[in-house]
Amino acid sequence: MEVIIRPDEQSAARLVGGIIAKELHARPQLVLGLATGGTMEKVYDELARHHREEKLDFSLCRTFNLDEYIGLAPDDPRSYRAYMNRQLFGRVNIDPRNTHLPDGMARDLSAECRHYEHLIHDCGGIDVQLLGIGRSGHIGFNEPLSALRSRTREKALAPTTIEQNAIYFDNDPAKVPKRAITMGVGTILEAHRCVVLVTGKAKADIVAKAVEGPITAMVTASVLQLHPRCTVVVDEAAASKLQGTDYYRWIFENEPEWAEFRR
Ligand code: PGA
Repeated sequence: MEVIIRPDEQSAARLVGGIIAKELHARPQLVLGLATGGTMEKVYDELARHHREEKLDFSLCRTFNLDEYIGLAPDDPRSYRAYMNRQLFGRVNIDPRNTHLPDGMARDLSAECRHYEHLIHDCGGIDVQLLGIGRSGHIGFNEPLSALRSRTREKALAPTTIEQNAIYFDNDPAKVPKRAITMGVGTILEAHRCVVLVTGKAKADIVAKAVEGPITAMVTASVLQLHPRCTVVVDEAAASKLQGTDYYRWIFENEPEWAEFRR
């Protein structure tokens, strides 16, 4: 795992957008794992800008989102399908048929979860997985005590997550769907590369637990410590409870891989 600290939310998102753009440029048929949530909006703005200004080509790219609420139709503006159409798919030249999210309206949810795993497998696996970390420590909707080898499945949302996401449901926790389909922790760990973005003071404690704490199912993001190629990008606020910041900064300033991203 590497940790990169950027001065603010905007530059952290710019770096993550730059990493994804570089991967897509090198491999136009990239299989890209996508995440939703407030933090990712700036990354999608960046990717849309790369498309607009540098002609970044999404025409062969295939995408798989981490999760979807159960019971929300794709055209419900609060569904993650609608979020993705708004934030990214409608702003770049991606073929909608190449974009995948679990179907939260499927009549047979277990069959839908198995189908989603097969689709990922048939595409050759995920090349780069974009991730956020929720206040519960989750990646996807893998809430505390999720099995660290879990696959795509139904999951009940943790109270912290329901509270966190209530802003999208009239600030009313009672309106937040209680269940979702999510890629499992094991599914996420199989991505060839993971790129995590976390910003803001409210995430400082959970970032410290995920990055420097013990690996535990209580904080599913901590399992990313086992991933052979995981980059965690944080802003100063989210980095404020980390212990090893001098070392992380030194790596970013000195590793040749990051030279083009230091600007
Ligand atoms: P957020 O969500 O970007 O809205 O904070 C992140 C997450 O829950 O994974």
